Amino acid sequence: MVELLPSILSADFAHLADEIAAAERGGGTVIHVDVMDGHFVPNMTLGPPVVASLRKATRMPLDCHLMIDNPNEYIAAFAEAGANWLSVHYEACTHLHRSLEMILDHGMKPGVVLNPATRVDLIEEILPMVHHVLIMSVNPGFGGQEFIPFSLDKIRRLTELRRELGLKFRIEVDGGVAHDTVAKIVQAGADLLVAGSAVFGAGRPEADARALLAAARAAAGER
Ligand code: DX5
Ligand code: ZN
Repeated sequence: MVELLPSILSADFAHLADEIAAAERGGGTVIHVDVMDGHFVPNMTLGPPVVASLRKATRMPLDCHLMIDNPNEYIAAFAEAGANWLSVHYEACTHLHRSLEMILDHGMKPGVVLNPATRVDLIEEILPMVHHVLIMSVNPGFGGQEFIPFSLDKIRRLTELRRELGLKFRIEVDGGVAHDTVAKIVQAGADLLVAGSAVFGAGRPEADARALLAAARAAAGER
């Protein structure tokens, strides 16, 4: 089942509750929250206090994507703030296995994120531990960038690995998910679609979420 995860990075931060409610009416089912520290990525966004406010504003699960150095130091704070899914970058974790165990121990669903230049096969051993793998299809840090075409090969490779290993983790894609790319992304095997500018960029989150999800479901052969 394909799901749409509106990314609040492109929303109006002064009206987050309204923006999220509109994206949910349009079919969004999980809210994607981009956490950036100005070190791991050249941009800064938000941290646990905003997540705690979002937690009160919606019943949808909060999918927190940590683009930060030393993520282990903040796992407890995100759990306390009410994050439901928590993903860490392969490139930011010297001890990835430990990071994933910490996320599990704090009662959240663990995810691992791969930058565009990181090979899918590097994470084979930890795949049984994760709830989702997030394939970055742009270099993380900013919304509104163009989808990197070779990401499709990575999604296909991960789909293949999931089948070979008999696992059930979800495959999430983030960056440049829009009308012109969504069909190929879904056909490659992705089932969690993050979209920021395609949902919030034009100021019509409900209509734009609905149209994007409809295109994704049509490509997946779902209604
Ligand atoms: C980028 C973030 C994304 C961002 C995607 O570093 O991880 O979640 O919101 O934005 P779009 O959908 O505009 O490419
Ligand atoms: Zn993200």
